[in-house]
Amino acid sequence: MKKSIVFTVMMVGVAGSHAATDMHRLIWNDDPATTMTVAWRQLGDEAKVYYDVVDPGREPASYGNFKCYTRKNDHLGLNTHFSRITMLQPDTKYYFLIADGDSVSRRYSFKTAPAKRKDFTFIAGGDTKSSDQRKKKGVEGEPPQKSAYDYGRMSNRMVAKLRPLFVLFVGDFTSNSDKADRWVEWFNDWNEDTCSTDGRMYPIIPVHGNHENPNGLTDLKNLFDTPESVYYTVDFCDDFMRVFILNTELISGQLKKKMPEIGQKWDAQTKWLEETLKNSGNFKYRVAMYHKPIRPHTKRKHTPEQVYRDWAPLFAEYKLNLSFDGDSHMHKITYPLVPDPLGEDGFRRDDKHGTMYIGEGSWGASPRAADALRGWTLSHGSFNQFKLIHVHRKKFLIRTVITDNEAEVESLKEGQELKLPKGIQLFDTPGMGTTIRYPF
Ligand SMILES: [Fe+2]
Repeated sequence: MKKSIVFTVMMVGVAGSHAATDMHRLIWNDDPATTMTVAWRQLGDEAKVYYDVVDPGREPASYGNFKCYTRKNDHLGLNTHFSRITMLQPDTKYYFLIADGDSVSRRYSFKTAPAKRKDFTFIAGGDTKSSDQRKKKGVEGEPPQKSAYDYGRMSNRMVAKLRPLFVLFVGDFTSNSDKADRWVEWFNDWNEDTCSTDGRMYPIIPVHGNHENPNGLTDLKNLFDTPESVYYTVDFCDDFMRVFILNTELISGQLKKKMPEIGQKWDAQTKWLEETLKNSGNFKYRVAMYHKPIRPHTKRKHTPEQVYRDWAPLFAEYKLNLSFDGDSHMHKITYPLVPDPLGEDGFRRDDKHGTMYIGEGSWGASPRAADALRGWTLSHGSFNQFKLIHVHRKKFLIRTVITDNEAEVESLKEGQELKLPKGIQLFDTPGMGTTIRYPF
């Protein structure tokens, strides 16, 4: 909405006096070239988002546009407000504030996606823990050991340094999703840690994980404004890349106990996936993301076989390029694979036509052993990590970022997003090096 009246409420005098909003975050669930969803927890009067292509600083009245909330809910008592901003210019930096009569947020910025094919970067990972309660006991005379919470915050701060266009978060946000304080901790950490020093924030595209099951299907809809069953697509750069966000939990026993009708939702999702993949042949790249790996690389995890039976043939038939998963808390990348009943564990390598399966979580959550390896496993390891993907017109460059040394990594500056910062530690796959290319 274009502002047409002079601001009469003098907010500046009380700016920063206390926060009347918190848990600020960005989400993409619509056209990333022309929309952005800004979300927050409302603690006082109704706030608005003020935004502009120039930088007016922290004076709301100087911004050329504002938007009220477009949806709100009180799920878990978090008084969540979403403002879906539309009709933005593609490939453009916007400055914005969240302000009400009592407070003005930090001056943030975001960037919309290009409307046409253009190189960009994104981060894919997941599995955090939002509580400090499991902090390991220190040994006398030695520095205190870090907890999953500390490691998660390091991964968050790496986002701020790498400046991706967006983050694919493959689920399992908090240890106890039915406890509101865990979400408050998670969102405020995300807000603080992933924001670059110049105020740039990065939109999340979220997946439903098993740790989001205690509240049925209500968390992501009410905290990230996703569709109710949490499967949808987000398209980048016109016909460059389509991301399929899928929900492996629709077949979980945990959800079935709460929602006996969940099996119908699984079937509806598979039907939708087939139809949508069939109509996605014009995209240069097709990418999927979901929580539970079809073939976990740790012996501690098992995924219902129906995920393999229903999805793997569709991925092969409609040429899915990359698949991102989480859950296990470790690192794996496979060779390009197609399903084959005679192959090892139902897959065989096919460098020309196969899908590369990339995962498996550990955005802070304690790494598990990578002890379920196959002949078609290309790279594996047990450490805190996420994937940094450089998307070029003819290739993906895939790097596994070890996030534990975040403090030694320099920050990229604006305009350097397709570079690698000094000090970054990338996993070195024997025989392959630190960069895996697709096509393979
Ligand atoms: Fe999980």
